Amino acid sequence: NAFFKPIEQTAPPSPTKRHTKISVIGAGNVGMAIAQTILTQDLADELALVDAKPDKLRGEMLDLQHAAAFLPRTKILASVDYAVTAGSDLCIVTAGARQIADESRLNLLQRNLTLFSAIIPPLARYSPDTLLLIVSNPVDVLTYVAWKLSGFPSNRVIGSGTNLDSSRFRFLIADHLDVNTQDVQAYIVGEHGDSSVALWSSISVGGVPVLSFLEKQQIAYEKETLESIHKEVIQSAYEVIHLKGYTSWAIGYSVANLARSLLRDQRRIHPVSVLAKGFYGIDGGEVFLSLPALLGRGGVLGVTNAHLTEEEAQQLRDSAKTILEVQSQLGI
Ligand code: NAI
Ligand code: 2OP
Repeated sequence: NAFFKPIEQTAPPSPTKRHTKISVIGAGNVGMAIAQTILTQDLADELALVDAKPDKLRGEMLDLQHAAAFLPRTKILASVDYAVTAGSDLCIVTAGARQIADESRLNLLQRNLTLFSAIIPPLARYSPDTLLLIVSNPVDVLTYVAWKLSGFPSNRVIGSGTNLDSSRFRFLIADHLDVNTQDVQAYIVGEHGDSSVALWSSISVGGVPVLSFLEKQQIAYEKETLESIHKEVIQSAYEVIHLKGYTSWAIGYSVANLARSLLRDQRRIHPVSVLAKGFYGIDGGEVFLSLPALLGRGGVLGVTNAHLTEEEAQQLRDSAKTILEVQSQLGI
């Protein structure tokens, strides 16, 4: 490079200096929302994009590169060849079919299963130490599929799960109470989809546990409101898909939030899809669904031992059963 006159380096670069590489598979609505959030939040030194459509992929890469003057420095690469993902710290899979209006997530399984057998083995080969974060739907079943196809230990295979549903839940509660969403703690667990489970006892606002407050005050009306808010959460994606054809911004932020906790070793607790066998009485088989999990650089570091009412525990087991029934048709 004739542009610079080199300065002699007195010491080699520090061996502790991190170089973080994230790969995003699928450069559609969701993949690109994730990619742009990762760039604006300065989460990676290198970002690799992979898609099956070379022109669309190159177009997306160039469009992001052209924003370099306004962003923290990140090297952006793109290719239809998985070699571009080599040495990733985190691979995020968003490729695949999405729902049309009123279609359930589980209905996408057969189409996306075929894609996964072309996507996961090369990712695992090029980045044998990577964390895998699955977003494509149905996310819980496909996280199980990715675990099987990668041969990775289960702590390194995570589904974005109900981190998004919980954000929708917190937003709606905050909107109802007219407070900041970040002051509302509330977890939705189980399937990312129609059988998700709201953990009522987990809801607190500014440290005040909402349910016991309402019970003490004998305010039954608000309890019904909370239940209708959970129904609204389940309907959220269907409504957005009806209106704009797909969902993208919220999942983009949700996944960037997970990427930060993982790669920056934040040890934060997120409701994400993990191997749930053995937790909360789930023992029917190897199933991935969302539980409150402690996330750090090693992936899933633990699962919170939250207190569930008998009703919540039963709903969680029912959600596991729903996913296992779909999984039993896979033949893997
Ligand atoms: P999209 O149709 O905009 O993008 C999908 C992309 O995958 C396309 O660019 C397509 O070319 C690519 N693709 C297809 N086959 C491929 C292959 N074999 N290798 C590489 N790339 C391939 O769809 P969108 O809206 O981005 O949704 C993607 C997925 O994310 C869907 O399954 C959707 O249901 C899911 N999703 C999951 C959410 C979650 O919370 N887990 C939230 C929103 C969407
Ligand atoms: C969502 O919840 C469709 O799973 C997608 O936005």
